[in-house]
Amino acid sequence: MKLTTKLLAATAICGAGAASATELEVMHWWTSGGEANAVSKFAEAWNAAGNTWVDGAIAGGGDTARPIMVSRIIGGDPPAAFQFNHGRQAEELVEAGMILDITDVSEQEGWADIITPSSLLDSCTYDGRVFCVPVNIHSWQWMWLSNGAYEAAGVDVPTTWTEYVETADAVREAGIVPLAMGGQSWQQNGSFGVMALALAGQDAWLAVNQDKDSEVVMGPEYTRVFEAFGAARELSDGLNVQDWNQATAAVINDTAAAQIMGDWAQGEFALAGEVAGEDYSCLPGLGEVALLDTGGDAFFFPVTGDPEIEAAQKELAALMLSPEVQVSFNSAKGSLPVRPDVDLTTVNECTQKGLDLLAEGSTVPSGNQLLSPDTTTQLNDLMTEFWESPSMTPAEVQEQYAAIIADAD
Ligand code: GAL
Repeated sequence: MKLTTKLLAATAICGAGAASATELEVMHWWTSGGEANAVSKFAEAWNAAGNTWVDGAIAGGGDTARPIMVSRIIGGDPPAAFQFNHGRQAEELVEAGMILDITDVSEQEGWADIITPSSLLDSCTYDGRVFCVPVNIHSWQWMWLSNGAYEAAGVDVPTTWTEYVETADAVREAGIVPLAMGGQSWQQNGSFGVMALALAGQDAWLAVNQDKDSEVVMGPEYTRVFEAFGAARELSDGLNVQDWNQATAAVINDTAAAQIMGDWAQGEFALAGEVAGEDYSCLPGLGEVALLDTGGDAFFFPVTGDPEIEAAQKELAALMLSPEVQVSFNSAKGSLPVRPDVDLTTVNECTQKGLDLLAEGSTVPSGNQLLSPDTTTQLNDLMTEFWESPSMTPAEVQEQYAAIIADAD
């Protein structure tokens, strides 16, 4: 148990008081430059309150980090807090009674009246009880484009997926890789999901991800997506990187023209001093549909049985949703705050596009809110197999995708 509670007896004139300072270990997978900068805002706020944040960062992305966190919790050596995506990832831990019920914090802090959209609190609520604090809204539904790459190619920066595909040859002729894609399976499957919403449309996307309708997977709308994904596979040839932020770096350095990636990529552009609209452009919904998904991150707090630690865990949960921490963290993370009553310090034209879409309710749930971790893992494995197997046809992967959706829970 990486938790120690130090009771610091304050020597006060009016008698000894006791100020408790608590050291909490917090696990997450935020290891890129932008992510580390963002999580440092949580640490700074926790430490400023007289406590100690022990950072438990795990490299390699969520698919690597989550099993490590789960093994710590099941093994009886849990961190005080851990980051998951909000939605269904923590279902089994909650059902096993291993996660602290923080409904009292939610009620005391009025989260039901603050958190917007309310689906974010719903994604932390199981059987009417609250088990996590949502800390941001991240959307996968973005494409990031290097203005410098398109200038070098002598073509305008695309404003739609169609224009992106049409200019890919000019980009390639300029010696630039059209599509930056890392080597982790969640990146290929995530990108496919963005193309599906953009090219098949909201109704078809919801039919597949929300209603698990495998017939729609085999229908004309998704056939167009699988064919487009097959064409996109070649567009990434020439860049061999593993982590998502290495692919983002290629766009930042103008050696790749574009990347389909969630808006956490903005943290990398910001850290590199890139200016939205000048150095890079952004296309929500690939410029085809004006929609965001309401994905994002939440913190969960393992049950410890120690009332002092529990009090500190609840203090941290409340702190993460406070207005000032919501501003400092989300401004650095490139995400949107989960409360509308704050103004981010850095609102560039891309963030503003996101805020506008959020304000008008142009959103869909995220895959993590709709699909089980098991189904998501199956889809991740399938899409990375397709991406790495040029002999595998779009029609073949479409059939296997439909079979997974047919059995999805
Ligand atoms: C997502 C997470 C983001 C981001 C990304 C890449 O699942 O919600 O916060 O960091 O992974 O690591």
